Amino acid sequence: MSITTSNKSLSENRAGSIAAGVASINPNYVASAQGALITDVEGNQFIDFAGGIAVMNVGHSHPRVVAAIKAQAEKFTHTCFMVNPYESAVRLAAKLAAITPGDFAKRSVFLNSGAEAVENAVKIARYYTKRPAVIVFENAYHGRTLLTMTMTSKVKPYKFGFGPFAPEVYRMPFGDTVGPEALGDFFVKQVNPEAVACVVAEPVQGEGGFICPPEGYFQELSRICKDNGILFVADEIQSGMGRTGKMFAIEHWDVEPDLITVAKSLAAGMPLAAVVGRTEIMDAVHPWGLGGTYGGNPVACEAALAVLEAFEEEGLLEKAQTLGNKMKARFEQWQAQFAVVDEIRGLGAMLGITLVKDGAPSAEAAQQMVQSCREKGLIILACGMQGNVLRILAPFVITDEQLEKGLAIMEEGLAAFSN
Ligand SMILES: Cc1ncc(COP(=O)(O)O)c(C=O)c1O
Repeated sequence: MSITTSNKSLSENRAGSIAAGVASINPNYVASAQGALITDVEGNQFIDFAGGIAVMNVGHSHPRVVAAIKAQAEKFTHTCFMVNPYESAVRLAAKLAAITPGDFAKRSVFLNSGAEAVENAVKIARYYTKRPAVIVFENAYHGRTLLTMTMTSKVKPYKFGFGPFAPEVYRMPFGDTVGPEALGDFFVKQVNPEAVACVVAEPVQGEGGFICPPEGYFQELSRICKDNGILFVADEIQSGMGRTGKMFAIEHWDVEPDLITVAKSLAAGMPLAAVVGRTEIMDAVHPWGLGGTYGGNPVACEAALAVLEAFEEEGLLEKAQTLGNKMKARFEQWQAQFAVVDEIRGLGAMLGITLVKDGAPSAEAAQQMVQSCREKGLIILACGMQGNVLRILAPFVITDEQLEKGLAIMEEGLAAFSN
């Protein structure tokens, strides 16, 4: 099989080699990426409003991250922290303890993917509480492993055909539809609170449609958890690392979770995830009870340290806030202007718009937008239970010009629905 470098030939070769279950939104094969720009193998350029699904908050090929990766790769790429430990993982854990909410002692465990972090948060919560059950929410997305797929809410494409699922996962409506007091009823009708190890929530639901609960929801939810000896786990895998204008989205509500899961933008594309939590909970697990071959890989840890340095030294949180404000102002114009735009959702630079046709959610409109934007040089993603939410996860380093160009492409696409 010969591989040549046109998008078409690569697509053909791919069909004969990559499993059909792994799909791609865009048929353009990447040659390079910088900041908020992706260039394909034919030299076509795309403004990136997707960030590889919330991974590139600091931007593609950030110079600090690239330098850190190169320097570490020249020293060593793997020893396994469980065999021969190294300093970067220790430094990163200390940094994570300092930047995550809660002025108390914390410990971290490093893993490779978001799903693995969520799995480990549940393992730790079960170990500490000696309870089996996990409460999750409607619209939740936590990953694709057996446990996290079970915890995920959407059937197609994530769960369809992949059962049987893991036991002891209970799902309740999220804060957008019912208040946290619904937990009282849930404890009567669904699960004994004394059997619940943890409640796992995305502070802003990601794949489920950029859904924020109302003010006061998480404060009350975490209080109910505390009253019942249940751990509160914030899944910040998509909403974290500055995306909502604060380092972690749960900070918007002044809640201090017992455990936090982080991944995606933590290491700007190097596979790295973490569970960060209260020391007494994290340290309850016996030695060798947690870990994995690659967890806390040294190249990934150095990349993450460079990401955190970029946040500190380049005002990335402020950039995220400014980006969010600009997008929100434009989305509000669209909402007034275009019948197809219904709600504006999200927080900070984690913003989305819902699309409707004839008063009903329209996945078709969202798909048309994704495609028409791509044809004009903009990568955007759709999400949501009905597939009708266009979500923006642009790198914070996007230039004003790139942002304006991207928004103009979206605007043109939305205007076409009114013609
Ligand atoms: C909130 C949340 N949790 C968990 C995951 C799973 O992360 P990964 O794909 O790295 O396993 C995702 C991925 O989209 C996510 O958005």
